[in-house]
Amino acid sequence: MAEQFGVLFVCLGNICRSPMAKWVFRDLVERRGLEMRVRIDSCGTGGWHVGQPADPRAVRTAAAAGLRTDHVVRQLSREDFEQFDLLIAMDRRNREHLLSEGAHEDKVHLMRRFDPDITGAHEHALDVPDPYYGADDGFVKVHQMLRSASEGLLEHVRARLGS
Ligand code: 4NP
Repeated sequence: MAEQFGVLFVCLGNICRSPMAKWVFRDLVERRGLEMRVRIDSCGTGGWHVGQPADPRAVRTAAAAGLRTDHVVRQLSREDFEQFDLLIAMDRRNREHLLSEGAHEDKVHLMRRFDPDITGAHEHALDVPDPYYGADDGFVKVHQMLRSASEGLLEHVRARLGS
């Protein structure tokens, strides 16, 4: 079998944004029948929630959209820098963390850079906002952002796979 292409979604706590990104992107990949060729995972730059499931609001929002919501929180490790082809940061702070820990800059991207509906936006507009301390509708907005960006990310991955 051909080697898998690895996509790692990275946020701060790994209980809200990056698990949702994993579920949304996995759904798209499976719909295209590419699940054998793409390895998808998520992690947090912080370790506060290691071993826990995702935030119940993230689970509710994703389940309502028909997504599978399995998750165990894990923290970023330096091995991830070698094992994944793309390190997708949810916001600029996550990106800075990846770069300062030594990730290769060619692998590190902001999630919303892939959104085909966003062109020429300033960097600050490209953050997926952290919904952790906000109201429940923050999770719905995050889910919409992730859906849109995932479409563009899938095209990018397909081009890299040559399929
Ligand atoms: P996430 O949200 O980075 O989208 O998972 C957060 C969850 C928890 C914390 C911060 C952000 N926290 O500080 O515990």
